[in-house]
Amino acid sequence: MPPSEIPTDWDLHYREDHTPWDKGSAAPPLLEWIEKNPNQLTGRVLVPGCGRGHDVRALAGLPEVTEAVGLDLSPTAVSLANSFPKVSRERYCVGNLFDLEKNHRGTYDWVFEHTCFCAIPIDCRESYVTGVWSSLHPSGSLLSVFYLNPYDDEHQPEDGPPHGSTLEELDALFVRSGRFSIQESYVPSRSYPGREGLERVMRMTRQG
Ligand SMILES: C[S@@+](CC[C@H](N)C(=O)[O-])C[C@H]1O[C@@H](n2cnc3c(N)ncnc32)[C@H](O)[C@@H]1O
Repeated sequence: MPPSEIPTDWDLHYREDHTPWDKGSAAPPLLEWIEKNPNQLTGRVLVPGCGRGHDVRALAGLPEVTEAVGLDLSPTAVSLANSFPKVSRERYCVGNLFDLEKNHRGTYDWVFEHTCFCAIPIDCRESYVTGVWSSLHPSGSLLSVFYLNPYDDEHQPEDGPPHGSTLEELDALFVRSGRFSIQESYVPSRSYPGREGLERVMRMTRQG
């Protein structure tokens, strides 16, 4: 899907500073996973839909990460991400996960997902899987925090994003498609306030 057809004007959200998803810090389930799995995140890491880059900076600070790359459709988000002091080897690029430039293909050891999958149109989910799969090198891994149930009194399924998902759907998209195998899947014990019990951490390895 070309950026002009993406129904949400993400850049406008950043220009108007209307970014309720941004909690000003890295995702608690990511920090929890890093604490439990020291030294496992290594090499080059891609964060699609990185927004202001809080997760990218947490990843860039890990000693074994050689480069953390944040990718976002929104030039304003990328400019805001670049305005934070650099932690280490991190970089931000404007780009579309559904139409990855050649330099992002087959090159990453890890992809970290957090609130990009729930933000895209539901009919783009197969393109999301293809984008993540293509960015990884053949034995690369996807570490993901899926916001399975983002609904509340103000926000219902018909008016996303964010859009919810189910384990069944994730299994069909990632595993039964032949693209990934699941190594780990659990409900994180640390979440932003209000997201407790609504997220799922999954670690998957690229197949094929
Ligand atoms: C809900 S925001 C989450 C941002 C960040 N992960 C956070 O938690 O603060 C979704 C982000 O995904 C980006 N995005 C949406 N579709 C994208 C695509 N096809 N390729 C790259 N980024 C995309 C948006 O611009 C936006 O910054």
